[in-house]
Amino acid sequence: MLALIFLGACGDGNPNEEGTSNQSNAEVNAAESKTADDKGLGKFTNVELTHPLDLKMIDAGKLIYDVKCGSCHRLSKEKLVGPGWKGVTSRRKPEWIMNFATNAEEMLTKDATAMALLEECLIRMPNQNLSDTDARNILEFMRNNDGDK
Ligand code: HEC
Repeated sequence: MLALIFLGACGDGNPNEEGTSNQSNAEVNAAESKTADDKGLGKFTNVELTHPLDLKMIDAGKLIYDVKCGSCHRLSKEKLVGPGWKGVTSRRKPEWIMNFATNAEEMLTKDATAMALLEECLIRMPNQNLSDTDARNILEFMRNNDGDK
């Protein structure tokens, strides 16, 4: 039962599990407020976002998503193996997202936000061997998924 609650709380919580996820959601929110300015650990310390979104980068990001991320991440809020990506660009800084995408291994042992996610998901996200360009393209794809213009 406890395990179910934790699984349901991976990411934004599962809307079908009302009533069981209150406590875990509170924990998630606590982890988020502490780390709203968190840039994570890795080489990305300053990511410049541009408007409007870059369509080529979105397309390239979608390709990477389809091949390397879609087996574990949905584009909705719903958890698969990892958290659904809807809203991830407001939950996390661009730097955090790009650092995690390229440096999950280190962040899962040292970054408080990543460690909290691991506690909920119970699976360590494997290193995806993304280039810096891949990581930036994926970020653009996520921004588009979140309705950024
Ligand atoms: C084998 C499953 C798996 C694959 C494939 C995977 N991830 Fe993950 N991802 C996870 C898990 C599980 C977590 C939660 C942290 C943890 O437990 O390691 C996560 C968390 C994340 C987060 C943080 C989400 C949040 O809500 O803060 C981002 C960003 C992310 N992954 C990006 C990616 C990208 C980009 C790819 C593809 C290049 C990818 N992931 C592929 C399993 C996966």
